[in-house]
Amino acid sequence: THHFNTKQSLAGKKVLVTAGPTYEPIDPVRFIGNHSSGKMGVALANELAARGAQVELVAGPGVQDPANKGIQLHRVTTAQEMYTVCIEHYPAMDLAIMSAAVADYTPETVASEKIKKTDGGMELRLTKTKDILKELGLLKKQHQVLVGFALETNNEKANALQKLHSKNADLIVLNSLQDAGAGFGYDTNKITVFDKAGEEISYPVKSKSEVAADIVDLIQKKFYV
Ligand code: CTP
Ligand code: CA
Repeated sequence: THHFNTKQSLAGKKVLVTAGPTYEPIDPVRFIGNHSSGKMGVALANELAARGAQVELVAGPGVQDPANKGIQLHRVTTAQEMYTVCIEHYPAMDLAIMSAAVADYTPETVASEKIKKTDGGMELRLTKTKDILKELGLLKKQHQVLVGFALETNNEKANALQKLHSKNADLIVLNSLQDAGAGFGYDTNKITVFDKAGEEISYPVKSKSEVAADIVDLIQKKFYV
């Protein structure tokens, strides 16, 4: 007899996950970074692999190794490196979940020697990085599902919906910073998920592994059942 097993129902699916920060070098000893730990992305990668998916995890600096040894780990440093790995793998993917906190700007030039301080202040010229989620949204084929995250401090819903549509994503997971004990540096998260049909699903504060299971449950329910 055939028994439908939710926990294995991603068998054969290929999934790309980005996690963590990117570091954008200024000179040989300095960079621009952010506080992302990558824990949410690693939890997603572990959950997906546990359900049978073939996972490519593109992880920024400082991200912990995933527990699941079946996960293909790609370590990157900069936004440009993360972009290159994602673009290479995306055509073969069924699903992509972009949880990384990618730098929006990178130094226009990287000094080859340590920048010495002088009297007075200094200016650093930055250029925009490539928006990986948006680029994947442009490349997206009919069978592919694309999930983005949004981190907002104000106008959360409007900004999340703007990201959903402008990046051609199928779902946007809004990370709520409203509740203490959720987000950067914590092991818990509070999310609200928005889809293109206008549906909005809110969850209570949970551990990042429970949040990952909620996200994967929702993806399976909406796209794979
Ligand atoms: N993202 C990305 N590449 C970038 C910037 C963001 O893939 N260069 C992805 C993130 O991984 C996330 C989504 O885009 O899935 C939204 O990221 P966020 O920083 O919240 O939004 P931005 O579009 O960068 O806009 P802003 O930071 O101005 O709110
Ligand atoms: Ca950003």
